[in-house]
Amino acid sequence: MKEIRIAPSILSADFACLARAVTEVVEAGADWIHVDVMDGHFVPNLTFGMPIVAALRRVTRLPLDVHLMIEAPERYLEAFARAGADRLIVHVEACPHLHRVIQGIRGLGLRAGVALNPATPLSALEEILPDVDQVLIMTVNPGFGGQAFIERMLEKVRRARRMIDALGRSIELEVDGGVGPENAPALVEAGATVLVAGASIFEAPEGPTEALRRLREAIQHVHAG
Ligand code: DX5
Ligand code: ZN
Repeated sequence: MKEIRIAPSILSADFACLARAVTEVVEAGADWIHVDVMDGHFVPNLTFGMPIVAALRRVTRLPLDVHLMIEAPERYLEAFARAGADRLIVHVEACPHLHRVIQGIRGLGLRAGVALNPATPLSALEEILPDVDQVLIMTVNPGFGGQAFIERMLEKVRRARRMIDALGRSIELEVDGGVGPENAPALVEAGATVLVAGASIFEAPEGPTEALRRLREAIQHVHAG
């Protein structure tokens, strides 16, 4: 049985009460905390940087899964490592020298991930897959929380799973964007091992604790692909 991790994305949390939001999902059984860094260039939106990662580090011991939606992320790897990130994910679209960036992340003692936009083919992974710990398939166009899941990405997740299995290494397969209890079972069946969920947890009318419980329940009996 593959272990499935749930990574609430704090992008949809109340930033004025971030510590409380994180503590709530930690107590509700979150596995990782997903942290979306945006620079207003690679994606049209701006969020936050190292100080927020450092602040989160002070309130939880869970792995901080830091998703860098920024241009030239190599400029900040060390700073994010110092702030307390455990995993750093960079976009293949933002890194002409991707191999160097991945080595840089690993050289800092962190887990290295690569993310692919919806329109980026999986073939972009071919030469880098043996060097990464994690692949993130964007299931919406990056930049905003609360967008609708792009259905066609399910098939992409399935193919990514096949690529990883063919390599025979344990690489986490993460899905990010529009994930909730309605599509989580199919994603797990397709081979996803990490589910990022923002709006479906932090904006759920029933509250984050109950939303997380429902998400976990939805995938409980699914046969992982
Ligand atoms: C989108 C971010 C996501 C976002 C997902 O650019 O990378 O992590 O927070 O949010 P939901 O789950 O609301 O689509
Ligand atoms: Zn993200």
